[in-house]
Formats: sequence, structure tokens, C-alpha cells
Amino acid sequence: MMKIICILLVVAFLAITNAFQSTSSVNRGRHSSISMIHPKRLPFIAGNWKMNTDLKSAIALATEVSELTKTCDPKKVEIAVCPPFPFLGQVGDIVSNSPSQIKLGAQNCFYELKGAYTGAVSAPMLKSVGCQYSLIGHSERRKIFSETDGAINHVVERVQEAGIIPILCIGETKEEYELGLNEEICTLQLCKDLKGLTPEQVSKIVIAYEPVWAIGTGLSATPEIAQSVHFAIRKWLRRIYGDDVAEMVRIQYGGSVTPETVDELMRCPDIDGALVGGASLVAKSFARIAMFNR
Ligand code: PGA
Repeated sequence: MMKIICILLVVAFLAITNAFQSTSSVNRGRHSSISMIHPKRLPFIAGNWKMNTDLKSAIALATEVSELTKTCDPKKVEIAVCPPFPFLGQVGDIVSNSPSQIKLGAQNCFYELKGAYTGAVSAPMLKSVGCQYSLIGHSERRKIFSETDGAINHVVERVQEAGIIPILCIGETKEEYELGLNEEICTLQLCKDLKGLTPEQVSKIVIAYEPVWAIGTGLSATPEIAQSVHFAIRKWLRRIYGDDVAEMVRIQYGGSVTPETVDELMRCPDIDGALVGGASLVAKSFARIAMFNR
């Protein structure tokens, strides 16, 4: 009961915040109900290896992914891998020579630049080992490591200052989904995580919609569910930051994406890519996902 009251309070807060942002901010873009696969949004498939592999298997996986995706045209699909921190250097060396120009991403980052923060990794450190992307706000970071939206907001700014593109992860829990609050929760997270960013900054981020109930469970959201949330996210971006930003921002879907589910998901007009966990640890599966058919 308490939890439901909290969620309802959150939704009320969201309504107020949205109303405030839409009147005070930036641009009240036109709302268009027409959505088409956007020719300018380059599809983006990223592999989140999480806390898996050791040095030897990370090198083997990167090498195999690089080989199996060699026919992927980097003008048609962008591919990235996000290995654990200790293997960024070696994996980066391998993928930097890949024919499909695979990018290197980190799984997380801290918002301070340097200093007495034992165990933390900063954006300039990631940049110095060749990271072009960093996941931020993954639900496992939010839940297990208690990362807050306030901290996530700082990290988004920091990684952009370092020249790294944030892949901002958002998504609702099973309980929130069952209460029909998926779109509200996602836009609430976006309100907080993007606070203070200019439209130009927002236009350069990637958003990953990852329903928590779909991560690692084998229960991928149906293309209809995923498309409706992606559409709502884009509509929100349009309202707050304007048409151009809404049309530019790539929104990946994440949560039990497999070679079997990717094609249908990628046929949805507002799904611009996938953030892949489990299936990215099997080179063949990840390569097939990167070779999705639309
Ligand atoms: P999954 O993980 O593909 O194993 O569900 C996705 C993610 O957590 O990014």
C-alpha cells in the first residue's frame, strides 16, 4: 500500500515537473503522431558484458565479434561493446581495428574527475583508454549500488564534457509496469537525469529503454510495448527540447534481446537499436543481432 502511494506521489510530481518544464523551457515542439523509421538515426547495437569474462575470454570474445561482424557496414549500423573496466584497454585495441569499426564503451562512470574516491573511475580515465560511450544509470547500478538520479545527472554531464557519449539507461520495475506507469516512470527518470542539460547536449545522448522486468529474465517486452514506450519518450523529448532533438536522439531497447527477437523490435519506428546483455556474451548471437533484418 505504502509503495503504491509513493508511486502515485511520484506520478503527481512528474505531472508538475513536466508542466513546469514545458512552460519554462526550451522549446514547445509540435507533437506529431506520425512516426517513421528515421533515415538519419544510425541503428546502434551495444553489448553490455556486465561482470563477465576474464582477460583471456574477453580478448577471445572481442576477436570473435570483430571477425563475425566484418561484413557489417558502419554506415548502416553502429556496434559497440562494453567490457568490464580491467579489459577496456585490450578489448579497445582489438575493436579499434575491426572492419565494422566497433566502438568501445564503459559500463559506468563516477562524476568526480579525480581524487580520493577509492574504486571509482572517472570520465577522463575512460576517455584516455579509448572509450567513446559509457552506460549510465543501468538499473543494476541504480538498484544494487543505490545510484540516484541526482548522481546520474552529474555523470551524464561529466562524460559529455570528456567527449564520451552517454547511453542513459531508464526503465520501470515489474510493479510499476503492472500499475501501467511505464511511460510516467521513464519520463520522470528523464526529467531528473537530464536536468539542466541544453537541447544541444541532449541531442547527443543515447537513451536505452530497459524495463527492469525484462532484463536477464528471457521476458523481452513485446515490440508493441517497447514501441509505445519509445514513442512516449520521443514525444516527451519533442515537447521539452523540440522536434530536431527528438528526431536525432537514438533510443535503444534493452531487456532479453536475442537473435530471435531483434528483427521485430528493430522494425518498430521508434526503436533505433538494442542494448544487449546475456546474448552479447555469445559472439554468434551478438553478431546476428547486429545484422538484424528490418
Ligand atoms: P539482458 O541485459 O539482455 O541480459 O536482458 C540487458 C542489459 O541489462 O543491458
